[in-house]
Amino acid sequence: MIEPGRLRRAFEALQHADTHARACWVCDLDVLNARARRFRAAFSDLPHLAAYALKANALPDVLAALRAHGFGADAGSLGELEAAAAAEFAPAMTVLNGNGRTPEEAGWVARKGVGLVNADHVPELDLLEDAAARVGTMVRVGLRVNPGIETPGHHYVATGHEGAKFGIGPGEALVAWRDRARWPRLRLDGVHVHVGSQLLDPGPMARALDGVLALAEASADAGAPLGVINLGGGFGIDYSGAAEFPLEDWARHLIARVSGSPFAWVVEPGRWLVAPAGALVAEVLWVKWRGGRRFVVLAAGMNDLIRPALYGARHRITPLEPRPGEPAPAIVVGPVCESADVFDPEALLPPLERGDLVALHDAGAYGAVMSSNYNGRGRLAEVVVSAEEVWLARRSERPADLAARDQTARLPAR
Ligand code: LLP
Repeated sequence: MIEPGRLRRAFEALQHADTHARACWVCDLDVLNARARRFRAAFSDLPHLAAYALKANALPDVLAALRAHGFGADAGSLGELEAAAAAEFAPAMTVLNGNGRTPEEAGWVARKGVGLVNADHVPELDLLEDAAARVGTMVRVGLRVNPGIETPGHHYVATGHEGAKFGIGPGEALVAWRDRARWPRLRLDGVHVHVGSQLLDPGPMARALDGVLALAEASADAGAPLGVINLGGGFGIDYSGAAEFPLEDWARHLIARVSGSPFAWVVEPGRWLVAPAGALVAEVLWVKWRGGRRFVVLAAGMNDLIRPALYGARHRITPLEPRPGEPAPAIVVGPVCESADVFDPEALLPPLERGDLVALHDAGAYGAVMSSNYNGRGRLAEVVVSAEEVWLARRSERPADLAARDQTARLPAR
């Protein structure tokens, strides 16, 4: 969590530059750096690449900080490949994931080179092979395997169970590895699993690890030894103050289980690194009473932070300068015309008045990156703070920005 004084400092600095600002994202680089160091320390005895999942937060300052700590990049689209390249992640430390591979992505990785592409299914290998052949290069490829593992938590972020859209079955992967001579431009020696996100218990990861080790052994027995095992992300954070993922325990278990193994390892942390380093700060627009209920209407809505509406997520909400008085029930909502635009239906908050500032904590992952222009609302500015400085890392969108893509360009019939 970011300290309230820093959040206030960040918001006031933004408002000084932009008097219309009523909400913004804040990223605390000191919190981020501390988490990056802790993550690196936990896994330091494992020969591995920690490829940061850009989908969680691709702010250039965040990428620069994580690169400086030795992280690589996990990209899931052409846009994230470009963001990783702009942040100067070494190509060899960049991984491409995703289940909707396009010819453009295949061409990009063939031309620019990446450390690993994880293919979601077997026909995708033909696309990658063609792209590599056209450039006259080799591409290292892993197969995303669906291990059939259930995870607790919201089913939208469970990705390793039988019904999930990701990956292929272990048997199909074994056949592809055995027949890998079919794709002479691909170094097809990787396996990728990612069982889900926001895990607080490493049990499903441990089961996935056992599964991929068995699979790697089976592939070696079939004459196709694997070289790289990518375990994905999923390391959960403590949204409620109750529990966090036991990172060091998991790393110790992993290292003990695999030490001396011949594989290169990849992990793909996203949320764990960045969530606590971010907050959404918003002004209280109105406090409305109806039938004994207190509705607190914020200047940020579900278009900014969709996690509560989409996953039923709860981000702790605190006033930046609490007024004296007992905490009492409040329904904290945004200004969007949807009844799902509720950040917390049962918050306990001290008295609040118009113009007060509140923070929604742990919003550094899957926050700004998932925001939209719904209801004609511009995306919010992103402000970065450190002990010494405050700076604007991304300006807000104004109404004119929203109209900027509109066209009346006639498309000639073919
Ligand atoms: N690797 C792959 C292949 C992924 O799909 C993801 C996240 C990660 C790594 C990083 O996972 P993490 O360490 O952050 O759990 N929007 C949702 C989370 C979606 C996660 C998507 N994949 C949320 O706000 O909870």
